[in-house]
Amino acid sequence: MKYGFFDDANREYVITNPKTPYPWINYLGNEDFFSLVSNTGGGYTFYKDAKFRRLTRYRYNNVPTDDGGKYFYIKDGETVWNPGWKPCKTSLDKYECHHGMSYTKIIGAKNGVEAEVLQFVPLGFWGEILKVSLKNESKETKKLKLFSFIEWCLWNASDDMENFQRNFSTGEVEIEGSVIYHKTEFKERRNHYAFYSVNTPIQGYDTDRESFIGLYNGFDCPDAVMEGKPRNTEAHGWSPIASHYIEVELAPGASKDFIFMLGYVEVAPEEKWESKLVINKKPAKAMIAKYDTVEKVQAAFNELRSYWDNLLGKITIKSNDERLDRMVNIWNQYQCMITFNMSRSASFFESGIGRGMGFRDSNQDLIGFVHQIPARARERILDIAATQFEDGSCYHQYQPLTKKGNSAIGGDFNDDPLWLILSTTEYIKETGDFSILDEMVPFDNDESKAKTHFEHLKISFYHVVNNLGPHNLPLIGRADWNDCLNLNCFSNDPNESFQTTGNKKGRTAESLMIAGLFVIYGKEFVKLCKQIGKNDEAAEAQKHVDNMIEAVKKDGWDGEWYLRAYDYFGRKVGSNENEEGKIFIESQGWCTMAEIGKEEGLCQKALDSVKERLDCKYGIVLNNPAFTKYYIEYGEISTYPAGYKENAGIFCHNNPWIMIGETMIGRGDRAYEYYTKIAPSFLEDISDLHKVEPYVYCQMIAGKDAYRPGEAKNSWLSGTAAWNFYAIIQYILGLKPDYDGISINPCIPKAWDGFTMIRQFRGATYNITVKNPNHVSKGVKQLIVNGKQVDGIVVPMQEAGKTHTVEVIMG
Ligand code: BGC
Ligand code: NOJ
Repeated sequence: MKYGFFDDANREYVITNPKTPYPWINYLGNEDFFSLVSNTGGGYTFYKDAKFRRLTRYRYNNVPTDDGGKYFYIKDGETVWNPGWKPCKTSLDKYECHHGMSYTKIIGAKNGVEAEVLQFVPLGFWGEILKVSLKNESKETKKLKLFSFIEWCLWNASDDMENFQRNFSTGEVEIEGSVIYHKTEFKERRNHYAFYSVNTPIQGYDTDRESFIGLYNGFDCPDAVMEGKPRNTEAHGWSPIASHYIEVELAPGASKDFIFMLGYVEVAPEEKWESKLVINKKPAKAMIAKYDTVEKVQAAFNELRSYWDNLLGKITIKSNDERLDRMVNIWNQYQCMITFNMSRSASFFESGIGRGMGFRDSNQDLIGFVHQIPARARERILDIAATQFEDGSCYHQYQPLTKKGNSAIGGDFNDDPLWLILSTTEYIKETGDFSILDEMVPFDNDESKAKTHFEHLKISFYHVVNNLGPHNLPLIGRADWNDCLNLNCFSNDPNESFQTTGNKKGRTAESLMIAGLFVIYGKEFVKLCKQIGKNDEAAEAQKHVDNMIEAVKKDGWDGEWYLRAYDYFGRKVGSNENEEGKIFIESQGWCTMAEIGKEEGLCQKALDSVKERLDCKYGIVLNNPAFTKYYIEYGEISTYPAGYKENAGIFCHNNPWIMIGETMIGRGDRAYEYYTKIAPSFLEDISDLHKVEPYVYCQMIAGKDAYRPGEAKNSWLSGTAAWNFYAIIQYILGLKPDYDGISINPCIPKAWDGFTMIRQFRGATYNITVKNPNHVSKGVKQLIVNGKQVDGIVVPMQEAGKTHTVEVIMG
């Protein structure tokens, strides 16, 4: 069953039934100021850091779900309703939620009145606009009462949920005209406040939650709204809110717009006060004045739309399947930008308080957005590298506000350093900017220890070489990509975190996933060294890569697939000898992408085993058979019930590794079949089962061993977004930026006649047509650039500022 439809021309998903199987959300904001908004108006807002600068309150895992947000109540006679259906849940005559590129428009209608709420954050602005348009479509004059509502969070989202003995006494507000200011803790150490305004005189307001709602009521029946009478309260402690009350009279056919603004202000310490205890409102007033008319708002909205036209215009394709086109051209790229902004911090599954920016995660995310915002990608790479230690190891996470490594989460995830080679080489290939290698970058944020970024890459490479185990395979450390395969943890205490506990300090547990990763990014390191004339460095590094290939062939092959690891005791993990967890996806993905033993047929065998043992109707599961009991020597992976998360769930992030592996051996049909199994737009018809948004990837779909296979969780913030984009563009459609041009080597289903792509690359536009007259999956017979035949598969760099025609004939 569907709950809406894709409007590709407007780049929107339009939800037509508010009772989606889970809240379907969107993100507003592109730089510093962000909001999450659900299809019924739920969600919250923060500035830069979802933990430390939360503007509005949100209660996760609430009953009913997704209660609390930016609400508008309309009282029309005795009927009270909301444009987004919630929280009153009054049945509506019309409901639509348009989630677009960084904006959401919710439209509701009841008894002849239509209300539209358009929400977005203008570019470069620290505030969100909510334009509310009311229209009287009935034949009689309407006297409406409009109430706005938000609930302030007392800034630190974590403390806000825990420290009630203090927080119930600290809340402070000011009200002036139509603006409600939130100034909790401004008196002491904060130099920031927030405000909620509307561009019209108000007839009343409330800032004290209990007076507005009533202690024993829910958001669905606030006393003030039900009675149609604001209380004009000033909050002191308890829970400050902001609610405007506006009386609106509309003649038949008449309409009226209101511009609400939720803003964030920082002031210099010496400019904090207007007079004793009265905050300096000048900056807020300037922000309000910037968008106080419909025309100004419309202009800002148009700017936002052109911003996205430009970003999404960097890669566009046309295939014979609109579901593929809308993933590539719109939603997958959009999601990649969201993961750039949020990493894994704030979604409806990530509370915004637990996790900062991941070293591994943010490097991988970069491969999904570097073509859109290369300058910001460069900055991100250098920020990440600055948290690395001198021996190449890394903090697993860092905080976005301070950019410092998070010691509470620890380190020793031995895959971490290698991802820096991935992000940096992808960045250089996209931009041609080798100067990043010469930047001086600190270690552990200590400027006195800075070395060039190239040196950071080198120590990342040698961190693996210096940490090999008994089989000359990489030591796993705390864990590799799979945070839950904790081979040195040995935890018997439920109060310990699997992520930070290492009860054994062994140097035996080895990872075949890191081995494959090392071969790929080791080769990339060699190639990069050659590009910049460091040939001795390249030759030395190549030896280590060759040794790793040999080590995998010797001790990493199980007969039908690649082993996953060796455990603390030196026993095989992911082997036919094991009773459970005989085969794992990660090493099949990385070792086939690395083409280890390809000539000997190992890659094909491993991928056939994946098909046979790991594939199912909804995607490829992580391991098989699923673990049915706790294995202390494996850690968190065996804590999950069978079929969920890292224990045989379909972990969407690693499915593209298999897709790419399939393209390495030329099996385009299979690669694309895997692509379509987890691409959300292909799952729209099973939204009932899938549950989460059909426009973005989720981290996990329940696997074949689960109670309800096909049910998904953890939408939005996942490396899945970047990797699927990378797999479809660079390996299935086959367009790969390289140091000296773009290589084109598609691997597609045989039935395809071809496809076209427009690619902006280093200032030039490439109009690419791929034709497949002989219906093959792989192989380029002819490459024609601007009418001239070119040997090989690389389109050499063409003149910037111009459009170039590229024709590829497969065969
Ligand atoms: C989850 C992982 C996650 C890790 C670190 C585990 O519980 O299963 O997916 O990466 O926590 O937060
Ligand atoms: C989610 C984490 O963010 C990511 O870093 C990790 O690789 C996967 N889970 C798998 O455990």
